[in-house]
Amino acid sequence: MPELVPVLSKDEIHNLVFGLAQKISLDYQGRPLVLIGVLKGAFVFLADLTRNITIPHEIDFLRAASYGSGTSSSEKIKMTKEVETDLQGKDVLLVEDIIDTGLTMACLIEYIKKLKPNSIKVCTFIDKHQRRRKDIKIDYTGHIAKEGFLVGYGLDYAESYRNLPGIYHLKL
Ligand code: IMP
Ligand code: MG
Repeated sequence: MPELVPVLSKDEIHNLVFGLAQKISLDYQGRPLVLIGVLKGAFVFLADLTRNITIPHEIDFLRAASYGSGTSSSEKIKMTKEVETDLQGKDVLLVEDIIDTGLTMACLIEYIKKLKPNSIKVCTFIDKHQRRRKDIKIDYTGHIAKEGFLVGYGLDYAESYRNLPGIYHLKL
């Protein structure tokens, strides 16, 4: 049986999300903010974040899949669900569950840039930077994690564990 070692409890997550939402609400006051969640993993974090942000904002989603084969498969990604909102003149905040190598986020930023928003910033709940391969500026981070595979709070292992209210280190 895989072992689940607790990393963040439901209450710790709530406090972190609340703090991020407060900062975002202050930083984007009076600006046309659009939160863009990266499916599937970010759906839980985005749902909590949007309800704690106190300024008006829109939400949208995109979904990216890596393609190609072998170890460098995630160097190229394909958009399998595009953004539907007109982003011209809007302030985009990309919302991710976890940033690991940074390859996905680097591609997403390039994709969003083409949609001509006023600004693009990045918010990730977990920053797992030990394997980082792209130098990405992360503007809002909930928690910095050491190496290891995390599950829960939207994060999956083979589509399981997304529903767990806390975050755990999965030891197979
Ligand atoms: P990247 O390596 O930064 O491109 O991360 C790509 C994607 O891998 C993330 O958006 C997650 O969906 C997934 N991922 C990376 N690390 C973990 C983890 O520890 N648990 C679950 N998913 C992960
Ligand atoms: Mg993800």
